[in-house]
Amino acid sequence: MKNYITHSEWQVVEEGFVPNYNRISESLFSIANGHTGQRANFEENYSGDSLQGNYMAGVYYPDKTRVGWWKNGYPEYFAKILNAANWIGLRIRLDGEELDLAKADVADFVRVLDMRTALLTRKFTATMPSGKKIEVVAERFLSIADKEIGAIRYRLKSINFTGALGLCSYIDGDIRNEDSNYDEKFWTETDKFTTENQAFLCMETKKTSFFVCHGVQTHLYVNGAMVNAARHPYQDEKFVANTFELPLVAGDEICIEKYMAVNSSLYQPQDELMDHVKAKLAEAVASGFDKLFEAHSQKWAKRWQTADIMVQGDVAAQQGIRFNIFQLMQTYSGDDERLNIGPKGFTGEKYGGVTYWDTEAYCLPFFMATAPQLIAKNLLLYRHKHLLKAIENAAKLGFTGGAALYPMVTINGEECHNEWEITFEEIHRNGAIAYAIYNYVNYTGDRDYLAPYGFEVLLGISRFWAQRVNWSDDKNAYVMLGVTGPNEYENNVNNNFHTNRMAVWTLKYTMEVIDFVKKEHPYLFSELTRKWAFNEQGETEQWRDIVENMHFPYDSKREIFLQQDGFLDKEIIPAADLDPAERPIHQNWSWDRILRSCYIKQADTLQSFYWFRHDFDQETLRRHFDFYEPITVHESSLSSCIHAILAARIGREEKAYEMYLRTARLDLDDYNNDTEDGLHVTSMGGTWLAFVETFGGLDVKDGQLLLNPFLPKSWEAFAFRINFRGAHLEIRMGSEFKITNHSELAVDVVVWGEQHQLKENGELVLAKKSVVQ
Ligand code: BGC
Repeated sequence: MKNYITHSEWQVVEEGFVPNYNRISESLFSIANGHTGQRANFEENYSGDSLQGNYMAGVYYPDKTRVGWWKNGYPEYFAKILNAANWIGLRIRLDGEELDLAKADVADFVRVLDMRTALLTRKFTATMPSGKKIEVVAERFLSIADKEIGAIRYRLKSINFTGALGLCSYIDGDIRNEDSNYDEKFWTETDKFTTENQAFLCMETKKTSFFVCHGVQTHLYVNGAMVNAARHPYQDEKFVANTFELPLVAGDEICIEKYMAVNSSLYQPQDELMDHVKAKLAEAVASGFDKLFEAHSQKWAKRWQTADIMVQGDVAAQQGIRFNIFQLMQTYSGDDERLNIGPKGFTGEKYGGVTYWDTEAYCLPFFMATAPQLIAKNLLLYRHKHLLKAIENAAKLGFTGGAALYPMVTINGEECHNEWEITFEEIHRNGAIAYAIYNYVNYTGDRDYLAPYGFEVLLGISRFWAQRVNWSDDKNAYVMLGVTGPNEYENNVNNNFHTNRMAVWTLKYTMEVIDFVKKEHPYLFSELTRKWAFNEQGETEQWRDIVENMHFPYDSKREIFLQQDGFLDKEIIPAADLDPAERPIHQNWSWDRILRSCYIKQADTLQSFYWFRHDFDQETLRRHFDFYEPITVHESSLSSCIHAILAARIGREEKAYEMYLRTARLDLDDYNNDTEDGLHVTSMGGTWLAFVETFGGLDVKDGQLLLNPFLPKSWEAFAFRINFRGAHLEIRMGSEFKITNHSELAVDVVVWGEQHQLKENGELVLAKKSVVQ
């Protein structure tokens, strides 16, 4: 754990330059606009340790799979969102001596990410080895008002140097991914063009043939006046630049403005790409830095208006939650259903930028509650579009008749994961995708999603479950063998409670949806029945049999469901008894030792208790929480959020708060020593969930909004905002509890078990209580 980020309500601040933390800060200060994003690399040359990262959403390379022992059914490749051309580069030379913070003496270094406006600012004073001293203030942003635009304003003041300033403003396409399986470079150059102050570079990805074109235009000002310094374009392989030479006198202030436009063949025909980028760049330049920034800031202000969470009385907590919300909003803008949310967003290479069950399980609720409905819907449509691939994926494993297995990791619907115990066995993910449909319809009330989209996905997944179980004469029940639950510290087990539960729940829900579609959309239903060769009677009869006769491992002495068959054969020792020096166990123990231990990586049985809360009473939840949480090591970033919510549901306010803190500042404080790889963006969805469900006690049952708020002792107040079925509500808990309805729609709401009506534009104020449900 580190503690070097200054606490501030709206900013992420690093004071002082610590080269050892550079990779961590590069992740923390990342900026993005849903389409393109980048780590907080320096503009000028830096020879110290750094992970350079510029990413374009949806632009990937299928890196050939590398495994020790090939198993039939493995995917051919692992898709990776590529490190794309670096457009921010500004090489600065003073009388030929290069500015490089790894070589200079750096003072007054401050890096600030303003979360209100997504502006990244860096200030420093550098004394170069020869004694030349300069001050720099660098600002940059990637516009969310126009997804194709970015801009840099780099101000440099000479303190003591008089001589020649050389500047090279470039786009470098000769870059690589650190995690390339065969150490290949993934890009080839297709086109380039330069003028005196413009440079364009078009690149193509190998194998996938995505075309990406970047264009930059650089302006130079000396002491406020634009200058036409001696300038020359420069081209090399995969490299374009504009170089400038000008005399500098001590005290002079130089301002470099660099405008960037980018687009890809996802949105523009390849042969029109460069012309399109040229036109975009011209537009950006005509607006100028300040106007572009204003439009961008206004858009951010609008996003915050519906998504902000306020915490009063605890700046660290305030910064933590805003940082999570900010990163989620930067990562996914929801305007293209081909895109999704990688576990690291645009902040690093780990996990390849591809989609996991994390999106459905942890991120969807944030977008449902804080953004226009279409944005959450697009996350569901992403999977709907991949249905045929999911059917192919299941067929590869031997399933038939339209059974669908969604991949563990994917970008285009094809499976990319290649460890058999996860690829073939961690199939609870299929349940998460089905659950997301329910969750979306339950929250938004948008039942229109079901007939044209939801039903088909549910049918494919149900068909998979029906074939994945088998009848056991011995148990006189259906069983599901050889699976891995969410707890990846245990593989290839039989009858994982959570997976069996997801299967049974999906079958039941699919039958409900069938009844609904049949009744409300009979014509479409008969079309779909034909399209999918659906034998309603035969298939649902089998499903009902499974629902009624599924085996769930249970210990009657403790009155708990077991994570899997035989779980109690393990030696049960609380995680609190582990030597702290051996934690996290995944970094200190052999895999063999982990597999045989009782330790649980993240919510597994408790994931079901989280999702199916209405099926279990308080006492049952308490028993399960008390058995499983003490042996859970929370070594997945997705763990503590679920445990915070469950702890709150059973009235363990302190435990809930402790768990919440672990998730809220996970990256800011580098809890798991891995922020340098990138931020835990999907877990940030979990943090949001943990906030609104732990402290707000938010729930939706039968179309009814329920709230059960409690205020942690160390906070003075908190407030969050949600969209709910056309209404926009601000929920505040302080010395009293208050809901303000910022919409023209009346809403019913149940607070602490009592029903209230909230009039259009009305307010509800209640005396504070802290009651457990
Ligand atoms: C977790 C998975 C998760 C993946 C990507 C793993 O460590 O165990 O549940 O899907 O990370 O975030």
